[in-house]
Amino acid sequence: MSISDSTQPNRRVLIASANPLFARGLQKMVAERWAERRVDVRISANMEDAIAVLEEWQPDLLIVDYDDVGQPGSIQRGEFLNRFIAGNRPMQVMLVSLRASGEVVVYDRRTLTPSQAEDWLDLPWMPAAETADSNTQDQSARLASGPNRADFETPKIQRSGSMKHYVIAGILTVIVTVLSYLLLISIGLLPEAAAVQAGPVDRMVNLQLWMIAFLFSLITVFIGYSIVVFRQRRGEVVDGTYFKGSTGLEVIWTIFPLAAVIGLSFLGAQALGEVRQVDTSAMTINVTAFQWGWIYEYPDYGVQSNILYMPINRQARLLLTSRDVIHSFWVPEFRVKQDALPGENLVKELRITPNKLGEYQVMCAELCGGAHAYMNTPVRVVTQEEFDAWLNEQSNAAALPPEERGQRAANASGCLACHSLDGAQMSGPTWLGLSGSEIQLQDGSTVTADDEYLYAAIVDPNQQIHAGFAPIMPQTYQDTLSEEQIQDIIAFINSLE
Ligand code: CUA
Repeated sequence: MSISDSTQPNRRVLIASANPLFARGLQKMVAERWAERRVDVRISANMEDAIAVLEEWQPDLLIVDYDDVGQPGSIQRGEFLNRFIAGNRPMQVMLVSLRASGEVVVYDRRTLTPSQAEDWLDLPWMPAAETADSNTQDQSARLASGPNRADFETPKIQRSGSMKHYVIAGILTVIVTVLSYLLLISIGLLPEAAAVQAGPVDRMVNLQLWMIAFLFSLITVFIGYSIVVFRQRRGEVVDGTYFKGSTGLEVIWTIFPLAAVIGLSFLGAQALGEVRQVDTSAMTINVTAFQWGWIYEYPDYGVQSNILYMPINRQARLLLTSRDVIHSFWVPEFRVKQDALPGENLVKELRITPNKLGEYQVMCAELCGGAHAYMNTPVRVVTQEEFDAWLNEQSNAAALPPEERGQRAANASGCLACHSLDGAQMSGPTWLGLSGSEIQLQDGSTVTADDEYLYAAIVDPNQQIHAGFAPIMPQTYQDTLSEEQIQDIIAFINSLE
């Protein structure tokens, strides 16, 4: 250190104090402290000399006797401070008070604005008597009166009782938290809960709403409170107290979020465990999603449907897959949601125990193409008796006339997600009056919708595109419908005159 220092000019330190003991004591301290450095020290006992030395000698560090104030000819810390602020040479100012048990304040121009430098005079260890006295003066007049006036050194308004502010802001935070929470739950973010699995989900959502309300309040209350209570009042031209770093605050804002995250992951894992709880007597339902509909197969009963029937209070084990792209099975009242992925190895399980009778909607919660928004089909939560009756009716389907079987097949295969039965135009042409009609094709030709045409349109839909419609019909029906089902569906279309 001393080697590199030797190439540089000596450090210059000016000690400004009218008290010889103070000055010599500091000089000794400086010499001991920087024994390895080359330091030149000068002492000025009065203002005139100090200013002259300051200007001509240009010290790196100025040590000012903070207590030496008021007597004629003595050291004026305000004057030094003023010069320090106005100058642009690198220099540090150190204020040392013996009265306040050796308190030291170091000023560095880089980290300081003029108004902060004024604040610096408002040191916390100022004797109370001086503070009270100076507060009675008009502050703006005091500031305008110039740095040499004795009142320059007087402290500014002290907003004491910071504990009081914390208590008030804390109470306001609690009140605003409760109000925000009540507002959030009054919006009705969630529909009624209709499954056992909704319990843990709602519990977590509720906790999250509390946290949202609290964090919102914490931020807005403290900002609002500060804006109102600590606003700049008439005649105030100074900045707030400057401080850098707060270990206590940093510890708090590290530990609390850490604890919150750990706590939330624990609660989240617990909720997930509850949602996935396995009931060994669960009824399996194979769910196949496709563009754009759902097929539900009950393997234990040999029944297939496009409407999901679930007996109440019995866990259903849904095994989800997709015939084409990624879909997502979601019934908001049941809360839980699961993607349906294409591929035999990617069958996903979802457990739902409905506990409220009624009809809800299955929705697709994954953008999956043109009719994604219409991929809604009913789900009916029924009593066990109703469920049995429905199963019975489904298994007797073979005895029905072909057009009725066709209607069921069309339902179960999702045809009716795109083709209406009442003349309304959806993504595909309506089936009402389709049979035997003349169809305008995209290439300008026309064709009669006879059985042959209908068959071709089902198994190879892109061969002849109906004018005005996009070629979006899945080309998978040849594989997924049996020959008999195709004939039944044609019979059904023919019956819609
Ligand atoms: Cu299927 Cu969106």
